[in-house]
Amino acid sequence: MSRRRQIYEGKAKILYEGPEPGTLIQYFKDDATAFNAQKKGTISGKGVLNNRISEHIFTLLGGIGVPTHFIRRLNMREQLIRQVEIVPIEVVIRNVAAGSLVKRLGIEAGTQLPRTIIEYYYKDDALGDPLISEEHIACFGWASQEEMHDIADMAIRVNDFMCGLFAAIGIRLVDFKLEFGRIWENDYSRVILADEISPDGCRLWDMVSGEKLDKDRFRLDLGGEVEAYQEIARRLGLMPEGAETTVADLDTHRKNKGK
Ligand code: TMP
Repeated sequence: MSRRRQIYEGKAKILYEGPEPGTLIQYFKDDATAFNAQKKGTISGKGVLNNRISEHIFTLLGGIGVPTHFIRRLNMREQLIRQVEIVPIEVVIRNVAAGSLVKRLGIEAGTQLPRTIIEYYYKDDALGDPLISEEHIACFGWASQEEMHDIADMAIRVNDFMCGLFAAIGIRLVDFKLEFGRIWENDYSRVILADEISPDGCRLWDMVSGEKLDKDRFRLDLGGEVEAYQEIARRLGLMPEGAETTVADLDTHRKNKGK
C-alpha cells in the first residue's frame, strides 16, 4: 500500500491528501503546545476526543446552516474535510474575561463582558500570532471586506449556538478561537468554517464549580487534562455511560451504535 501524501503538519493536527480532489484527511494528534509552542507536551487520547468533539459541533453547526469544511469522520483520529485556502486570521470570540484579555487590559478574570468581543490575530508563528485590527486585514489584503463581513456574521452565529449548547450541559463558554477557509467555485470564492472546535481552542468552565475543562489545564499545569476533555465529551453525550470509560471505549461505543 502506498503511503498517502502529507500536505501539512501543524502543532495538533496533520493534513493528508484526501481520496478525491478537493478533499483532505485531518488527523488529530495527542501533541499539545502553549504560548506559541514554547511549552510542549502530549495529552494521551486528546486527538481521539478532539476528533469526536469537533465532529459533533461541526455537524450541529452544519445543521443550523453554518457552512463548514467537515464531511465525515473516518476513524478514531481522522476526519474527511473539504480542502480550503486558510484565511490567515485567528478569530477569537470572548464572552467572559480570561487569558490574554486579562493580561493585556487588566480586566478581572471571570468578568462577564457587557457585550461579546471579536478579536483578530494574524496567523504567523514567527511573529507569535499578533493581535490585529480590521484595518490591518484590509490594508494587507488578508481577507476582503465581504469575507470579513461573512466571518464576523458566522462567528456570532457560532457563538450564540455554542453558548446555548454548553449552557445546557452546565458549562460556561468563556472564549474560543475559530479559523475560516476559502473554497473556490469557478472564479468565485466563499468562506466556510475550518480547522476544529475542541477544548484545545475553547475556554470551558463548569458553571457551578468554575473548574476549567479545557487546554488551560495544560497551559497552567493544573493536571487532569484528559479527564477534563473526557468530561466535555461525556456531557455532550459522546461517551458511553459508566465510570470506567476510557478513550478506547469511545470508538467501540460508536461502532456499536452503528454510526
Ligand atoms: P487568549 O486568551 O490566549 O488570547 O485565547 C483566547 C482563546 O483562543 C482561548 O479559548 C484559546 C484560544 N487560542 C487558540 O485556540 N490558539 C491560540 O494560539 C491562542 C493564543 C488562543
